[in-house]
Amino acid sequence: MSDHPRLIRRPEWTALEDHRAGALLHPDLREMFDRDPERAERYTVRVGDLLVDYSKNLINDETLALLQELATATDVFGLRDAMFHGERINITEDRAVLHTALRAPRNAVIEVDGENVVPQVHAVLDKMTAFADRVRSGEWTGHTGKRIRNVVNIGIGGSDLGPAMAYEALRAYSDRSLTFRFVSNVDGADLHEAVRDLDPAETLFIVASKTFTTIETITNATSARTWLLKGLDGDEKAVAKHFVALSTNAGKVAEFGIDPDNMFEFWDWVGGRYSYDSAIGLSLMIAIGPERFREMLDGFHLVDEHFRTAPAEANAPLILGLLGIWYGNFFGAQSHAVLPYSHYLSKFTAYLQQLDMESNGKSVDRDGHPVEWQTGPVVWGTPGTNGQHAYYQLLHQGTKVIPADLIGFANPVDELSDELKAQHDLLMANLFAQGQALAFGKTAAEVRAEGVPEAQVPHRTFRGNHPTTTILAAELTPSVLGQLIALYEHKVFVQGAVWNIDSFDQWGVELGKVLAKRVEPALTEGAHVPGLDASTTALVAAYRTLRKK
Ligand code: F6P
Repeated sequence: MSDHPRLIRRPEWTALEDHRAGALLHPDLREMFDRDPERAERYTVRVGDLLVDYSKNLINDETLALLQELATATDVFGLRDAMFHGERINITEDRAVLHTALRAPRNAVIEVDGENVVPQVHAVLDKMTAFADRVRSGEWTGHTGKRIRNVVNIGIGGSDLGPAMAYEALRAYSDRSLTFRFVSNVDGADLHEAVRDLDPAETLFIVASKTFTTIETITNATSARTWLLKGLDGDEKAVAKHFVALSTNAGKVAEFGIDPDNMFEFWDWVGGRYSYDSAIGLSLMIAIGPERFREMLDGFHLVDEHFRTAPAEANAPLILGLLGIWYGNFFGAQSHAVLPYSHYLSKFTAYLQQLDMESNGKSVDRDGHPVEWQTGPVVWGTPGTNGQHAYYQLLHQGTKVIPADLIGFANPVDELSDELKAQHDLLMANLFAQGQALAFGKTAAEVRAEGVPEAQVPHRTFRGNHPTTTILAAELTPSVLGQLIALYEHKVFVQGAVWNIDSFDQWGVELGKVLAKRVEPALTEGAHVPGLDASTTALVAAYRTLRKK
């Protein structure tokens, strides 16, 4: 148990409260920019290929200094170093947290319990590379000798969102002669829609599950096997050519009937939501090829090194993490919007939801005491321009404080036609315009000057001062994607460290899993489930009445 004062009683915390109630009671971005012509440049940090402009946040130099003092007092960098050194900082599961080892170069040395894990990481990457090359070249064929044309990843949570998001993000780099689908939902409709137009003889299933016990994944994998065998005359031998597994649990993989030779391993020090750069990324590696996959890992590593070594005032994940704390704990912000201006990043926010909300959705601290401060925000958002015509109204004129990240690229992907490439400036003009409108709004005087009737002036006035951070890169390459993800991973880390919570467990997901297993017999057999509450009992009865026999 730590003997530090609790977070909100630390002098660094109360100094921030005083600052918010004093100098930053009514922050005004127009005024802040007017007073400081250097603000945009001073509040921009460059990391690898990413430019992070945080100047449109409700902060000044003192805010940043106070936030950094809070980070120092809460020993964010001490915990960071412990993570990078393989210490068991996931205390409730007694595990090291070493997703950073997954992207370390071959010659790095990172030890867990005295053993260098980097050679294992690279051995699996080599095995993945050999397999991906065989599938991509057509050398790995299905049971009937046909070439594999379709790859279906079956997994959920971290075993789905990462590869699905990254495949979408890097589609332009993918082998277009192959089809990739991602099945996660235990709703049979998901698998049905994924395979209904596929030829089993040309289909490879990748069963991705860290534990290999997750009911949704095992159920879908079992149904996929039935579908495959039905299409291949029931020959059980087909499974070996059409099923591979990504897991930490060799025993369960073998029990399922997948040859352990066709299993790609990872380790308990890789959290599910931090795993798509492990074997869990096999579908992505098949899609974009091992070289591009390595470029992505190098992008992650670049930001790992930045986070590990950059001084506080230039440390992008630290700054982003502290800004989130500033809004969540001192402005009452409940949510954080992530708004990519890239169609390819359509699954990016969904991915970040798990990363952030499963990591920092906690209400006891590392010592097991209830927290008296807000922790992780609700993360939400969709690609930018679509959002503009849906929920941006609330961002501009609603009553809530919603900090947002605007993410965009200077170039469209190469593959687009010239005509479609020409649309890119319009896309990005929207990003810049939104950042500007959110920050600086439109005053009543400006509205009046346009000749707007007085009765409409309040409706057409924008108060502005809605904080945004803009992240810009030249283009969405594999490396840039890795950089972006690592940036958010470490941002989430920083916040968990300050809040003194365990960002690496997810006990909250367990209760629902256990209860679903208990309730299922009541639905299927009408079994009496002891301890079921009155509302659920009535709902189950109604379900059984409505259910077709
Ligand atoms: O959603 C809870 C969770 O435990 C996630 O953390 C994990 O990514 C997901 O389930 C899937 O777990 P597994 O990879 O073991 O099937």
